[in-house]
Amino acid sequence: MFRHLLKKDDQTSLASELEVENFSIKHLDAIIDIEKEANPTPWSKKTFENILNKRSMSFVCLLKTQIIGFCIASEVLDECHLQNISVKKDFRHKGVGRYMFGVLFQRSKLFGIKNTFLEVRESNYGARNFYDKLGFREITKRDDYYKTRNGREAAVILRLTH
Ligand SMILES: CC(C)(COP(=O)(O)OP(=O)(O)OC[C@H]1O[C@@H](n2cnc3c(N)ncnc32)[C@H](O)[C@@H]1OP(=O)(O)O)[C@@H](O)C(=O)NCCC(=O)NCCS
Repeated sequence: MFRHLLKKDDQTSLASELEVENFSIKHLDAIIDIEKEANPTPWSKKTFENILNKRSMSFVCLLKTQIIGFCIASEVLDECHLQNISVKKDFRHKGVGRYMFGVLFQRSKLFGIKNTFLEVRESNYGARNFYDKLGFREITKRDDYYKTRNGREAAVILRLTH
């Protein structure tokens, strides 16, 4: 069903050269660097370490030996909760994000996941367009959910039904 997300025939896509590894402690520093350039209020090292101590579906994406993206997600019964996803700045718009969702959805299938949920900053139009293209739809909003540099903003809650 989600095979198209792993498409290898797109000339602008890096998909044919990408690999994934389950998230482990050796990836921590690279992930934190990517997070710092992606998130206006980046997750702390402790937050990532806590993920490592729990069962999760999280993985990093590699181009040759370089970590260029990560996906933090967990499964709860028949739901997948995407908590964080980022692609290193220089590698965006090359199909890496779409590729990671292809991997996540393949894993979700093994877990019998029926719905995937995520939260996105209301002002993050790029990511919202990205999720829309993947088939996510808005189900609700939570006001004042995220910190910004000078206040707070809403979270848009999205769902994709598999
Ligand atoms: C959102 C993000 C993960 C997308 O990854 P990516 O590798 O750049 O995305 P892809 O190249 O796979 O793009 C897939 C589709 O989404 C759309 N898209 C991706 N980024 C977009 C942007 N900034 N603006 C508009 N559309 C975008 C593309 O049009 C693309 O569709 P197309 O190839 O058919 O045109 C990446 O931009 C990122 O890391 N952003 C910073 C962190 C972030 O905001 N994470 C989400 C937190 S909820």
